[in-house]
Amino acid sequence: IDELLSEGVAGKRVLVRADLNVPLDGTTITDDGRIRAVLPTVKALAEAGARVVVASHLGRPKGAPDPAFSLAPAAARLGELLGADVAFATDTVGESAGATVAGLADGQVAVVENLRFNAGETSKDDAERGEFADRLAALADVYVGDGFGAVHRKHASVFDLPARLPHYAGYLIATEVGVLRKLTDDVRRPYVVALGGAKVSDKLAVIDALLGKAERILIGGGMAYTFLKAQGHEIGTSLLQEDQIPAVREYLERAGKNGVELVLPVDTLVAAEFPDMKTKAPANPTTVAADAIPAGHMGLDIGPETRKLYASKLADAGTVFWNGPMGVFEHPDYAEGTKAVAQALVDSPGFTVVGGGDSAAAVRTLGFDEQAFGHISTGGGASLEYLEGKTLPGLAALED
Ligand code: 3PG
Repeated sequence: IDELLSEGVAGKRVLVRADLNVPLDGTTITDDGRIRAVLPTVKALAEAGARVVVASHLGRPKGAPDPAFSLAPAAARLGELLGADVAFATDTVGESAGATVAGLADGQVAVVENLRFNAGETSKDDAERGEFADRLAALADVYVGDGFGAVHRKHASVFDLPARLPHYAGYLIATEVGVLRKLTDDVRRPYVVALGGAKVSDKLAVIDALLGKAERILIGGGMAYTFLKAQGHEIGTSLLQEDQIPAVREYLERAGKNGVELVLPVDTLVAAEFPDMKTKAPANPTTVAADAIPAGHMGLDIGPETRKLYASKLADAGTVFWNGPMGVFEHPDYAEGTKAVAQALVDSPGFTVVGGGDSAAAVRTLGFDEQAFGHISTGGGASLEYLEGKTLPGLAALED
Protein backbone atom coordinates (compact mmCIF):
# COMPACT_ATOMS: atom_id res chain seq x y z
CA ILE A 1 0.00 0.00 0.00
CA ASP A 2 2.94 2.38 0.60
CA GLU A 3 3.82 1.92 -3.05
CA LEU A 4 0.26 2.84 -4.03
CA LEU A 5 0.31 5.89 -1.76
CA SER A 6 3.60 7.07 -3.18
CA GLU A 7 2.19 6.76 -6.70
CA GLY A 8 -0.72 8.97 -5.60
CA VAL A 9 -4.34 7.97 -5.13
CA ALA A 10 -6.13 11.33 -5.01
CA GLY A 11 -9.44 11.08 -6.85
CA LYS A 12 -9.06 7.34 -7.43
CA ARG A 13 -11.76 4.90 -6.36
CA VAL A 14 -10.01 2.36 -4.14
CA LEU A 15 -11.91 -0.76 -3.10
CA VAL A 16 -10.66 -2.11 0.22
CA ARG A 17 -11.63 -5.73 0.79
CA ALA A 18 -11.82 -5.74 4.59
CA ASP A 19 -13.00 -8.37 7.06
CA LEU A 20 -15.68 -6.60 9.06
CA ASN A 21 -17.17 -9.94 10.12
CA VAL A 22 -17.68 -8.84 13.73
CA PRO A 23 -19.75 -10.61 16.39
CA LEU A 24 -23.20 -9.04 16.76
CA ASP A 25 -25.84 -9.21 19.44
CA GLY A 26 -28.81 -8.07 17.35
CA THR A 27 -27.40 -4.89 15.85
CA THR A 28 -24.89 -4.30 18.65
CA ILE A 29 -21.26 -5.07 17.87
CA THR A 30 -19.84 -7.00 20.81
CA ASP A 31 -16.20 -6.81 19.67
CA ASP A 32 -15.03 -4.23 17.12
CA GLY A 33 -11.44 -5.48 16.91
CA ARG A 34 -11.70 -6.30 13.21
CA ILE A 35 -13.00 -2.82 12.38
CA ARG A 36 -10.20 -1.15 14.33
CA ALA A 37 -7.67 -3.39 12.61
CA VAL A 38 -8.44 -2.01 9.15
CA LEU A 39 -8.41 1.66 10.22
CA PRO A 40 -4.75 2.37 9.33
CA THR A 41 -5.38 1.37 5.71
CA VAL A 42 -8.70 3.20 5.37
CA LYS A 43 -7.32 6.32 7.07
CA ALA A 44 -4.16 6.42 4.98
CA LEU A 45 -6.14 6.12 1.75
CA ALA A 46 -8.73 8.72 2.77
CA GLU A 47 -6.03 11.15 3.92
CA ALA A 48 -4.33 10.73 0.56
CA GLY A 49 -7.56 11.79 -1.16
CA ALA A 50 -8.78 8.41 -2.39
CA ARG A 51 -12.48 7.67 -2.69
CA VAL A 52 -12.55 4.62 -0.45
CA VAL A 53 -15.06 1.84 -1.00
CA VAL A 54 -14.98 -0.72 1.80
CA ALA A 55 -16.41 -4.17 1.02
CA SER A 56 -16.74 -7.13 3.40
CA HIS A 57 -18.77 -10.17 4.25
CA LEU A 58 -20.56 -10.65 7.56
CA GLY A 59 -21.70 -14.04 8.79
CA ARG A 60 -22.93 -16.68 6.41
CA PRO A 61 -26.12 -15.46 4.70
CA LYS A 62 -27.35 -17.68 1.91
CA GLY A 63 -26.37 -15.62 -1.17
CA ALA A 64 -29.37 -13.26 -0.87
CA PRO A 65 -30.12 -10.15 1.20
CA ASP A 66 -30.89 -10.94 4.84
CA PRO A 67 -31.30 -8.03 7.27
CA ALA A 68 -29.86 -10.07 10.14
CA PHE A 69 -26.48 -9.96 8.38
CA SER A 70 -26.46 -6.31 7.29
CA LEU A 71 -23.15 -4.47 7.43
CA ALA A 72 -24.95 -1.27 8.48
CA PRO A 73 -23.84 -1.51 12.16
CA ALA A 74 -20.24 -2.12 11.09
CA ALA A 75 -20.39 0.87 8.71
CA ALA A 76 -21.70 3.07 11.51
CA ARG A 77 -18.93 1.91 13.85
CA LEU A 78 -16.31 2.52 11.17
CA GLY A 79 -17.61 6.08 10.88
CA GLU A 80 -17.36 6.58 14.67
CA LEU A 81 -13.81 5.26 14.75
CA LEU A 82 -12.76 7.37 11.78
CA GLY A 83 -14.54 10.41 13.18
CA ALA A 84 -16.07 10.99 9.76
CA ASP A 85 -19.30 10.35 7.91
CA VAL A 86 -19.24 6.99 6.20
CA ALA A 87 -21.75 6.50 3.38
CA PHE A 88 -23.58 3.19 3.27
CA ALA A 89 -24.90 1.48 0.14
CA THR A 90 -27.88 -0.79 0.77
CA ASP A 91 -26.73 -3.19 -1.93
CA THR A 92 -23.28 -4.42 -2.98
CA VAL A 93 -23.06 -3.85 -6.74
CA GLY A 94 -26.53 -2.52 -7.59
CA GLU A 95 -28.04 0.93 -7.95
CA SER A 96 -27.37 2.03 -4.40
CA ALA A 97 -23.69 1.02 -4.59
CA GLY A 98 -23.28 2.73 -7.97
CA ALA A 99 -24.85 5.97 -6.78
CA THR A 100 -23.01 5.93 -3.43
CA VAL A 101 -19.61 5.46 -5.05
CA ALA A 102 -20.37 8.05 -7.73
CA GLY A 103 -21.30 10.49 -4.98
CA LEU A 104 -18.02 10.14 -3.06
CA ALA A 105 -15.77 13.17 -2.87
CA ASP A 106 -12.00 12.77 -2.61
CA GLY A 107 -11.11 11.52 0.87
CA GLN A 108 -14.57 10.14 1.60
CA VAL A 109 -15.37 6.59 2.66
CA ALA A 110 -18.31 4.35 1.77
CA VAL A 111 -19.23 0.83 2.83
CA VAL A 112 -21.23 -1.38 0.50
CA GLU A 113 -23.66 -4.01 1.81
CA ASN A 114 -22.58 -7.56 2.68
CA LEU A 115 -20.75 -9.25 -0.21
CA ARG A 116 -22.41 -12.56 0.67
CA PHE A 117 -25.87 -11.18 -0.18
CA ASN A 118 -24.73 -12.12 -3.71
CA ALA A 119 -24.49 -15.79 -4.69
CA GLY A 120 -21.52 -15.02 -6.95
CA GLU A 121 -19.29 -14.11 -3.99
CA THR A 122 -18.92 -17.63 -2.62
CA SER A 123 -19.83 -19.63 -5.73
CA LYS A 124 -17.75 -22.69 -6.60
CA ASP A 125 -18.38 -21.90 -10.24
CA ASP A 126 -15.53 -19.81 -11.66
CA ALA A 127 -17.77 -18.09 -14.22
CA GLU A 128 -20.38 -17.09 -11.64
CA ARG A 129 -17.70 -15.74 -9.32
CA GLY A 130 -16.07 -13.98 -12.26
CA GLU A 131 -19.30 -12.25 -13.20
CA PHE A 132 -19.73 -10.91 -9.70
CA ALA A 133 -16.07 -9.87 -9.59
CA ASP A 134 -16.64 -7.92 -12.85
CA ARG A 135 -19.46 -5.99 -11.21
CA LEU A 136 -17.31 -5.23 -8.16
CA ALA A 137 -14.45 -4.16 -10.42
CA ALA A 138 -16.74 -1.60 -12.06
CA LEU A 139 -16.94 0.20 -8.70
CA ALA A 140 -13.20 0.86 -8.42
CA ASP A 141 -9.93 1.79 -10.11
CA VAL A 142 -7.66 0.05 -7.60
CA TYR A 143 -7.98 -2.93 -5.22
CA VAL A 144 -6.47 -3.11 -1.75
CA GLY A 145 -6.68 -6.49 -0.04
CA ASP A 146 -6.83 -6.06 3.74
CA GLY A 147 -9.36 -8.65 4.90
CA PHE A 148 -6.83 -10.99 6.44
CA GLY A 149 -9.55 -13.05 8.17
CA ALA A 150 -10.93 -14.08 4.77
CA VAL A 151 -7.75 -14.70 2.74
CA HIS A 152 -8.24 -18.46 2.99
CA ARG A 153 -11.51 -18.18 1.06
CA LYS A 154 -11.52 -18.57 -2.71
CA HIS A 155 -14.27 -15.99 -3.02
CA ALA A 156 -14.92 -13.42 -5.75
CA SER A 157 -13.86 -10.37 -3.72
CA VAL A 158 -10.80 -12.14 -2.31
CA PHE A 159 -9.50 -14.14 -5.25
CA ASP A 160 -11.08 -13.04 -8.56
CA LEU A 161 -11.35 -9.30 -8.07
CA PRO A 162 -7.64 -8.51 -7.55
CA ALA A 163 -6.91 -10.07 -10.95
CA ARG A 164 -9.18 -7.45 -12.53
CA LEU A 165 -7.62 -4.33 -11.00
CA PRO A 166 -4.19 -3.02 -10.01
CA HIS A 167 -3.87 -4.64 -6.59
CA TYR A 168 -1.99 -3.99 -3.35
CA ALA A 169 -1.85 -5.44 0.16
CA GLY A 170 -3.08 -3.23 3.01
CA TYR A 171 -1.29 -2.65 6.31
CA LEU A 172 -3.24 -5.31 8.19
CA ILE A 173 -2.39 -8.10 5.78
CA ALA A 174 1.25 -7.01 5.77
CA THR A 175 1.38 -7.09 9.58
CA GLU A 176 -0.43 -10.42 9.89
CA VAL A 177 1.77 -12.15 7.34
CA GLY A 178 4.89 -10.70 8.97
CA VAL A 179 3.86 -12.21 12.30
CA LEU A 180 2.90 -15.59 10.86
CA ARG A 181 6.28 -15.78 9.13
CA LYS A 182 7.87 -15.56 12.58
CA LEU A 183 5.87 -18.67 13.53
CA THR A 184 6.97 -20.60 10.47
CA ASP A 185 10.42 -19.40 9.36
CA ASP A 186 11.94 -17.82 12.41
CA VAL A 187 10.67 -19.61 15.54
CA ARG A 188 12.21 -18.93 18.95
CA ARG A 189 12.12 -22.17 20.96
CA PRO A 190 10.52 -23.83 22.73
CA TYR A 191 7.48 -23.32 20.52
CA VAL A 192 4.30 -24.02 22.49
CA VAL A 193 0.86 -24.13 20.89
CA ALA A 194 -2.41 -23.99 22.84
CA LEU A 195 -5.46 -25.14 20.91
CA GLY A 196 -9.07 -25.01 22.07
CA GLY A 197 -12.49 -24.41 20.61
CA ALA A 198 -15.36 -26.74 19.98
CA LYS A 199 -14.41 -28.86 17.00
CA VAL A 200 -11.45 -31.18 16.58
CA SER A 201 -12.16 -31.28 12.86
CA ASP A 202 -11.22 -27.57 12.53
CA LYS A 203 -7.83 -28.20 14.16
CA LEU A 204 -6.72 -31.57 12.80
CA ALA A 205 -4.78 -30.20 9.86
CA VAL A 206 -2.91 -27.70 12.01
CA ILE A 207 -2.08 -30.34 14.61
CA ASP A 208 -0.81 -32.52 11.76
CA ALA A 209 1.45 -29.71 10.54
CA LEU A 210 2.63 -28.73 14.02
CA LEU A 211 3.54 -32.25 15.13
CA GLY A 212 6.86 -31.80 13.41
CA LYS A 213 7.37 -28.16 14.38
CA ALA A 214 6.21 -27.39 17.92
CA GLU A 215 7.75 -28.79 21.10
CA ARG A 216 4.43 -28.83 22.99
CA ILE A 217 0.76 -28.76 22.01
CA LEU A 218 -1.77 -28.11 24.78
CA ILE A 219 -5.33 -29.18 24.09
CA GLY A 220 -8.41 -27.61 25.69
CA GLY A 221 -11.97 -26.55 24.85
CA GLY A 222 -14.70 -28.81 23.54
CA MET A 223 -12.24 -30.64 21.31
CA ALA A 224 -10.31 -31.99 24.32
CA TYR A 225 -13.09 -34.50 25.05
CA THR A 226 -12.66 -36.27 21.72
CA PHE A 227 -8.97 -36.68 22.68
CA LEU A 228 -9.92 -38.05 26.10
CA LYS A 229 -12.38 -40.46 24.46
CA ALA A 230 -9.67 -41.55 21.99
CA GLN A 231 -7.53 -42.44 25.02
CA GLY A 232 -10.33 -44.72 26.20
CA HIS A 233 -11.90 -42.50 28.88
CA GLU A 234 -15.62 -42.05 29.41
CA ILE A 235 -16.65 -38.46 28.74
CA GLY A 236 -20.34 -38.49 29.70
CA THR A 237 -22.33 -36.08 27.53
CA SER A 238 -19.31 -33.92 26.64
CA LEU A 239 -18.84 -32.75 23.07
CA LEU A 240 -17.63 -35.64 20.93
CA GLN A 241 -16.71 -35.97 17.27
CA GLU A 242 -16.69 -39.72 17.06
CA ASP A 243 -15.61 -39.84 13.41
CA GLN A 244 -12.40 -37.99 14.32
CA ILE A 245 -11.24 -40.57 16.86
CA PRO A 246 -9.03 -42.58 14.46
CA ALA A 247 -7.19 -39.42 13.37
CA VAL A 248 -6.79 -38.26 16.96
CA ARG A 249 -5.37 -41.67 17.96
CA GLU A 250 -2.90 -41.49 15.11
CA TYR A 251 -1.77 -38.01 16.25
CA LEU A 252 -1.37 -39.13 19.84
CA GLU A 253 0.89 -41.93 18.61
CA ARG A 254 2.84 -39.73 16.22
CA ALA A 255 3.39 -37.11 18.93
CA GLY A 256 4.97 -39.81 21.08
CA LYS A 257 7.25 -40.93 18.24
CA ASN A 258 8.25 -37.37 17.30
CA GLY A 259 8.98 -36.40 20.88
CA VAL A 260 6.25 -33.74 20.83
CA GLU A 261 4.41 -33.27 24.11
CA LEU A 262 0.69 -33.44 23.27
CA VAL A 263 -0.79 -32.37 26.61
CA LEU A 264 -4.41 -33.12 27.57
CA PRO A 265 -6.47 -31.84 30.51
CA VAL A 266 -6.00 -33.69 33.79
CA ASP A 267 -9.18 -32.31 35.31
CA THR A 268 -12.29 -30.59 34.05
CA LEU A 269 -15.33 -28.63 35.22
CA VAL A 270 -18.54 -30.55 34.62
CA ALA A 271 -22.28 -30.02 34.94
CA ALA A 272 -25.39 -31.94 33.96
CA GLU A 273 -26.49 -29.14 31.64
CA PHE A 274 -25.09 -26.57 29.30
CA PRO A 275 -25.24 -23.20 31.12
CA ASP A 276 -27.91 -20.62 30.35
CA MET A 277 -26.00 -18.14 28.20
CA LYS A 278 -28.79 -15.55 28.27
CA THR A 279 -29.25 -15.18 32.02
CA LYS A 280 -25.69 -16.38 32.86
CA ALA A 281 -27.31 -17.87 35.98
CA PRO A 282 -24.81 -19.67 38.26
CA ALA A 283 -24.07 -23.11 36.82
CA ASN A 284 -22.53 -24.64 39.98
CA PRO A 285 -20.08 -26.89 38.15
CA THR A 286 -18.04 -29.56 39.92
CA THR A 287 -14.41 -30.40 39.30
CA VAL A 288 -13.55 -33.98 38.37
CA ALA A 289 -10.48 -35.78 37.08
CA ALA A 290 -10.42 -35.89 33.29
CA ASP A 291 -10.61 -39.69 33.36
CA ALA A 292 -13.59 -39.69 35.74
CA ILE A 293 -16.32 -37.65 34.06
CA PRO A 294 -19.58 -39.01 35.49
CA ALA A 295 -22.29 -40.32 33.16
CA GLY A 296 -24.83 -37.62 32.28
CA HIS A 297 -22.29 -34.81 32.83
CA MET A 298 -20.47 -32.68 30.30
CA GLY A 299 -17.10 -31.01 30.50
CA LEU A 300 -17.30 -27.23 30.00
CA ASP A 301 -13.86 -25.91 30.97
CA ILE A 302 -10.44 -27.17 31.96
CA GLY A 303 -10.04 -27.63 35.72
CA PRO A 304 -7.71 -25.92 38.24
CA GLU A 305 -4.93 -28.55 38.01
CA THR A 306 -4.95 -28.25 34.22
CA ARG A 307 -4.78 -24.46 34.49
CA LYS A 308 -1.62 -24.80 36.58
CA LEU A 309 -0.20 -27.46 34.28
CA TYR A 310 -0.79 -25.40 31.13
CA ALA A 311 0.63 -22.25 32.73
CA SER A 312 3.79 -24.21 33.61
CA LYS A 313 4.06 -25.58 30.04
CA LEU A 314 3.79 -22.01 28.71
CA ALA A 315 6.14 -20.38 31.22
CA ASP A 316 9.43 -20.98 29.39
CA ALA A 317 8.09 -20.68 25.84
CA GLY A 318 10.12 -18.75 23.29
CA THR A 319 7.09 -18.59 21.01
CA VAL A 320 3.41 -19.21 21.74
CA PHE A 321 0.52 -19.57 19.34
CA TRP A 322 -2.91 -19.80 20.93
CA ASN A 323 -6.13 -20.47 19.06
CA GLY A 324 -9.47 -21.33 20.62
CA PRO A 325 -10.92 -20.85 24.11
CA MET A 326 -10.35 -23.49 26.80
CA GLY A 327 -14.00 -23.58 27.86
CA VAL A 328 -17.35 -21.84 27.54
CA PHE A 329 -15.67 -18.57 28.58
CA GLU A 330 -18.73 -16.44 27.81
CA HIS A 331 -20.22 -17.82 31.05
CA PRO A 332 -18.39 -16.62 34.16
CA ASP A 333 -18.33 -20.08 35.75
CA TYR A 334 -16.40 -21.44 32.76
CA ALA A 335 -14.04 -18.55 32.03
CA GLU A 336 -11.16 -19.48 34.33
CA GLY A 337 -9.42 -21.87 31.94
CA THR A 338 -9.34 -19.35 29.12
CA LYS A 339 -8.27 -16.61 31.55
CA ALA A 340 -5.43 -18.78 32.85
CA VAL A 341 -4.08 -19.40 29.36
CA ALA A 342 -4.42 -15.72 28.45
CA GLN A 343 -2.60 -14.78 31.68
CA ALA A 344 0.16 -17.30 30.94
CA LEU A 345 0.69 -15.60 27.58
CA VAL A 346 0.79 -12.19 29.26
CA ASP A 347 3.40 -13.48 31.74
CA SER A 348 5.44 -15.21 29.06
CA PRO A 349 8.77 -13.68 28.08
CA GLY A 350 8.33 -15.24 24.64
CA PHE A 351 6.68 -13.95 21.47
CA THR A 352 2.95 -14.58 21.91
CA VAL A 353 0.32 -14.71 19.17
CA VAL A 354 -3.42 -15.03 19.73
CA GLY A 355 -5.23 -16.25 16.63
CA GLY A 356 -8.90 -16.60 15.92
CA GLY A 357 -12.03 -14.55 16.41
CA ASP A 358 -13.09 -16.36 19.61
CA SER A 359 -9.76 -16.21 21.43
CA ALA A 360 -9.23 -12.60 20.37
CA ALA A 361 -12.72 -11.70 21.61
CA ALA A 362 -12.05 -13.66 24.83
CA VAL A 363 -8.87 -11.70 25.49
CA ARG A 364 -10.69 -8.41 25.07
CA THR A 365 -13.95 -9.27 26.82
CA LEU A 366 -12.12 -10.85 29.79
CA GLY A 367 -10.40 -7.51 30.33
CA PHE A 368 -6.84 -8.23 29.20
CA ASP A 369 -4.72 -5.46 27.75
CA GLU A 370 -4.18 -6.17 24.06
CA GLN A 371 -0.73 -4.60 24.27
CA ALA A 372 0.37 -7.35 26.66
CA PHE A 373 0.34 -9.84 23.77
CA GLY A 374 2.87 -10.00 20.95
CA HIS A 375 0.10 -9.99 18.37
CA ILE A 376 -3.64 -10.59 18.28
CA SER A 377 -4.56 -11.90 14.85
CA THR A 378 -7.84 -11.01 13.16
CA GLY A 379 -7.76 -14.34 11.36
CA GLY A 380 -9.04 -17.61 12.78
CA GLY A 381 -9.25 -20.06 9.88
CA ALA A 382 -6.83 -17.89 7.88
CA SER A 383 -4.02 -18.07 10.44
CA LEU A 384 -4.58 -21.81 10.97
CA GLU A 385 -4.40 -22.50 7.23
CA TYR A 386 -1.27 -20.36 6.96
CA LEU A 387 0.36 -22.44 9.70
CA GLU A 388 -0.77 -25.60 7.91
CA GLY A 389 1.40 -24.42 5.01
CA LYS A 390 -1.52 -24.06 2.60
CA THR A 391 -1.58 -21.56 -0.24
CA LEU A 392 -4.10 -18.90 0.73
CA PRO A 393 -6.09 -17.69 -2.31
CA GLY A 394 -6.28 -14.09 -1.09
CA LEU A 395 -2.53 -13.85 -0.56
CA ALA A 396 -1.68 -15.66 -3.79
CA ALA A 397 -3.91 -13.22 -5.69
CA LEU A 398 -2.08 -10.23 -4.22
CA GLU A 399 1.38 -11.69 -4.86
CA ASP A 400 0.49 -12.46 -8.44
C1 3PG B 1 -13.76 -15.56 10.01
O1 3PG B 1 -14.56 -15.14 10.86
O2 3PG B 1 -12.96 -16.49 10.25
C2 3PG B 1 -13.68 -14.88 8.69
O3 3PG B 1 -14.39 -13.69 8.69
C3 3PG B 1 -14.13 -15.81 7.60
O4 3PG B 1 -15.48 -16.12 7.76
P1 3PG B 1 -16.05 -17.50 7.15
O5 3PG B 1 -15.47 -18.61 7.97
O6 3PG B 1 -17.55 -17.40 7.25
O7 3PG B 1 -15.58 -17.57 5.72
